[in-house]
Formats: sequence, structure tokens, C-alpha cells
Amino acid sequence: MQLPLRQFGQTDMKISALGLGTWQFSGGKGMVGGYWDALDEVTSREIVNCAVNGGINWFDTAQVYGGGESERNLSKALTSAGIAKEDVHIATKWWPVMKTAGNLKSTIDDRIDCLAPFPIAHHIVHQPFSISSVAQQMHAMADLMDAGKIQSVGVSNFSAKAMRKAHQVLQARGYALTANQVRYSMVTRNIETNGVLDAAKELGITIIAWSPLEQGLLTGRFHREGGIPASMNFMRKGMLKSTGLQKTRSLIDAMQALTQKYDATIAQIALNYTVNVHGDTVVAIPGASKVSQVEQNLGALRFRLDDDDIQALTALCTA
Ligand SMILES: NC(=O)c1ccc[n+]([C@@H]2O[C@H](COP(=O)([O-])OP(=O)(O)OC[C@H]3O[C@@H](n4cnc5c(N)ncnc54)[C@H](OP(=O)(O)O)[C@@H]3O)[C@@H](O)[C@H]2O)c1
Repeated sequence: MQLPLRQFGQTDMKISALGLGTWQFSGGKGMVGGYWDALDEVTSREIVNCAVNGGINWFDTAQVYGGGESERNLSKALTSAGIAKEDVHIATKWWPVMKTAGNLKSTIDDRIDCLAPFPIAHHIVHQPFSISSVAQQMHAMADLMDAGKIQSVGVSNFSAKAMRKAHQVLQARGYALTANQVRYSMVTRNIETNGVLDAAKELGITIIAWSPLEQGLLTGRFHREGGIPASMNFMRKGMLKSTGLQKTRSLIDAMQALTQKYDATIAQIALNYTVNVHGDTVVAIPGASKVSQVEQNLGALRFRLDDDDIQALTALCTA
């Protein structure tokens, strides 16, 4: 099956409007990876197989997702599903906290080994917290481009100012900033007012929306089930509570009212909205721990919300 493809920044890569987030592939390891329960090998393989068969052609992972475990599990799952390296793009991220730009270069071969045989199509500075300046980090990225170790450069959680600086440094080296990966969903819309979205549109940079389903909140499942399970880990509970079951109830009700018109679920309406409300600028990387979730999320691009519905939902989200 084909999903609509979009230009990825100024690269010659065409990516599906939905990629697959694989933080969930961290094997439950480490501070960050332990956020999600470990998935077994069969489930991971079925998830990527379903994603690729459904038209997803790119995946997001990171060094910090289990210290390379998500990268290894992703590569293993793709390989055992028989997916060729030419058919998918992988984005991974360098963890910059308490690190200098030199670490970006000294860790690249680990990233390559973890993902082998799949090359790094997109390498991302995960957070704007390196000890080195943005310029130093971008020069290190440009060196990796020169060396053919990565195919494009991205940042994550960068402000408009830092993003512009990154783009400017890369341009001076003959490259461009391809994407800024940020938290963006129907109910987390800071980038619309803090200059990030405007800068992306002006400079031809793709916005990659992380947590586009607000970790399940925008599927309506917690509203239906009468709350957030007490057994859920406290960090995720904190994230879900900060977005708020009550605050999102009228939005969930409005999406529920559209489910018949589009023959779609609430999750599909939320994802369709997120990747269409700003033209082609925003793509999204919903994560999944079950094959049925990927199957459902793939259906988000089989219809198109009309302008009136987009406007009505926007009014509700921003009220
Ligand atoms: N750059 C960054 O700083 C950053 C930060 C966070 C995430 N990310 C990336 O973004 C990706 C997505 O973010 P995320 O995983 O935090 O949030 P998300 O995509 O909004 O939520 C994923 C979770 O929502 C639930 N879900 C997904 N589809 C569903 C469906 N159709 N019906 C019901 N529940 C569904 C599942 O929860 P259960 O597993 O509980 O069923 C799944 O694990 C991550 O995998 C990661 O690659 C990047």
C-alpha cells in the first residue's frame, strides 16, 4: 500500500507523512528506555512489518532509547521481516547532555553498528543541551556528512533561534537543516506561537511531531476507560495528567462526532489533523506497542478532513 509521500526538508528523500516512533523498542532498558515495557521480538517484527506493508517508509529511534537497544531492536526487526535497506529511512539521535560536539563524532560508529545494515538517513541532536555551541555541533554534523556517515542533519526540541543558527552554519558548509523534531499535537501547539513553525515554513525545514497522540490521550481510550490506569508508570501518568483528561474531553467528544462521517477512529482523526493542518510541513511519528495500533494509525491517511472540520477542531483546541 502507498501512503502520501512528502519532501523531507531539502533532501531528495521522500517520506511518508507518518513514520513510526520506536522509543517503545528500548527493551525497557535504562532511565529513558524504561519508560515503556519491553516488547518481545515477534511483536517488534510484526509492528515494523505492518508499518512497511502499510506504506510507512521511515522510523525514528535514538541512542538514549535503552543505550542503543531501540536502534538494535529496530534493525533486527526490519531484517527479520525481510525489509531491504533501500526501502526505508532511519532517523536516529545523538544524546548531547553533558557532552561536547566531539562526542557526536566519537559515537557515530556505535550508531552505525547498532543500526547496521540500515544507514543513518537522518542524524539528530536530541536536545538543545550540549556543552558545545550550536555552531560547533553543526560543524561536527557537517563533518559527518562530508565523511558520508549520515545522509541528513536534524535537531530536536530546538527554539526558532537555535534552529535558524543551525541552518545557517550548515548552509555555509553546503548543507541544510532538514528537520526539527518537537512535541506537537492537537493540544500541544507551542510551535505555532514561538516562531518554530514560521521558521520551518520559511526555511523549508520539516517539523517532525513527537507524541502526536499525547501517549494515547488523543485516542479517547482513557476517556472511555474512565481514567488513567493507576498501574501506569508515574512519569507517563504525569504527562497524561498535565495534558488533562477533563481539558481534552470536549475535543474528544467533537472527534467522536466525526468518526461516522469519515468512517475513522478518534486516533485516526487526530493524526490526520496533525499532519494536514499546516500543509506538508508537519509529519508525525506515533509510537506503538501493539500491531493493532499501527494498523489503526495507518488508516489515518485514508481520508482527508475537510476545511470546515479542521477549522472547528482548531477552534476547540485553541479555545
Ligand atoms: N525528540 C524527542 O524529544 C522525543 C520525545 C518523545 C518521543 N519521541 C519520539 O516520538 C515517538 C512518539 O512519541 P510517544 O511514543 O511519546 O507518543 P505517542 O506516539 O503519542 O503515543 C504512543 C503510545 O500511544 C498509544 N497508542 C498508539 N496508537 C494507539 C492507538 N491507535 N490506540 C490506542 N493507543 C495507541 C500506545 O500506548 P501503549 O503502549 O500504552 O498502548 C503507544 O505506545 C516515540 O516513539 C519517539 O520515537 C521523541
